[in-house]
Amino acid sequence: MVGWHDPTTLGTAPRSHLKEESMFSTTKARTRLTGVLAGVAVLALAACSSGGGSTDGSSNDAGGDGGSGDAIVVGFSQVGAESGWRAANTKSIQDTLTAENGFDLKFSDAQQKQENQIQAIRSYIAQGVDVIAFSPVVESGWDAVLEEAKQAGIPVILTDRAVDSEDDTLYESFIGSDFVLEGEMAGEWVSENVATEPINVVELQGTTGAAPAIDRKTGFEDATKDNPNVTIIDSQTGNFTRAEGKTVMEGFLQAHDDIDLVYAHNDDMGLGAIEAIEAAGLVPGEDIKIVTVDAVKDGMQALADGKINFIVECNPLLGPDLADIIKKVVAGEEVEKRIVVKDESFTQEQAIEALPTREY
Ligand code: AHR
Repeated sequence: MVGWHDPTTLGTAPRSHLKEESMFSTTKARTRLTGVLAGVAVLALAACSSGGGSTDGSSNDAGGDGGSGDAIVVGFSQVGAESGWRAANTKSIQDTLTAENGFDLKFSDAQQKQENQIQAIRSYIAQGVDVIAFSPVVESGWDAVLEEAKQAGIPVILTDRAVDSEDDTLYESFIGSDFVLEGEMAGEWVSENVATEPINVVELQGTTGAAPAIDRKTGFEDATKDNPNVTIIDSQTGNFTRAEGKTVMEGFLQAHDDIDLVYAHNDDMGLGAIEAIEAAGLVPGEDIKIVTVDAVKDGMQALADGKINFIVECNPLLGPDLADIIKKVVAGEEVEKRIVVKDESFTQEQAIEALPTREY
């Protein structure tokens, strides 16, 4: 694991903040020739079923050949626009996969719905793009559509979130953070800094079935299970959004009058919790402590203001590294099956120091 990504090199695909692992076998980009017949079949099918619109991958359709010229045509299916993290991630991808950098990006927003992502991927297959990349809204249920992409000879790259498929030949590479480690970092900080006496914790989970929700829960529980002072008294999903984080926190406050700490799987839900805590006449960061994941600007500002107590970072700037992987795959070069992005963490003092130069 090495140093931090230099934001000034956006677009030049730096590798410095990545840890490359050989957890899985290394693969070579496969030739697309074997998939031509299957691709034609998928094209015909999708042409009959595509509904159009901005969520299904068809909004930028150029008419079936996936684009023109030497540009690498990439179909990217994004989870949605649920959080500040997601906005920064989308910007990083759109700022990097540009025509100037040799790409023709077809981007779609799935509005946090798996069916929209599957429709978008099928549309990209039908268009015959060179590469499909996506951040899966949930972990399970991808094998069929990924098999269709494989049969069409179109390589798939996972960004940010994992799929739970047992067949790792269905994608070329997965680049993203270690969400279990993020949960562990949060749990260790709570255990060492707050749970020196008995505390009641409520947990705001991310989207049900999403890799970061599953893994951040696991990591936090693992890191706190041996501390008898930590009791998780309630845990519900806030779907990674500020509005739902607020609503769920309001419910927690009505159900429990003894909450000491909120563990939120992202900043946005923590920011929603702050609103609920203040509306209840309590002081966030003091009466009820808050620990979150992401370290986007709004979260960092709340941390610097003393309303959040600790944040574990999740780096959203995946565009340059995704561009690098795509170019290697298209060139038939070797790519690592799993690329782990390094994350840091911030105390209130560290947030004050970091904020002036914080990029996202
Ligand atoms: O998958 C990354 C997570 O998705 C971020 O932590 C969260 O803010 C986003 O919704």
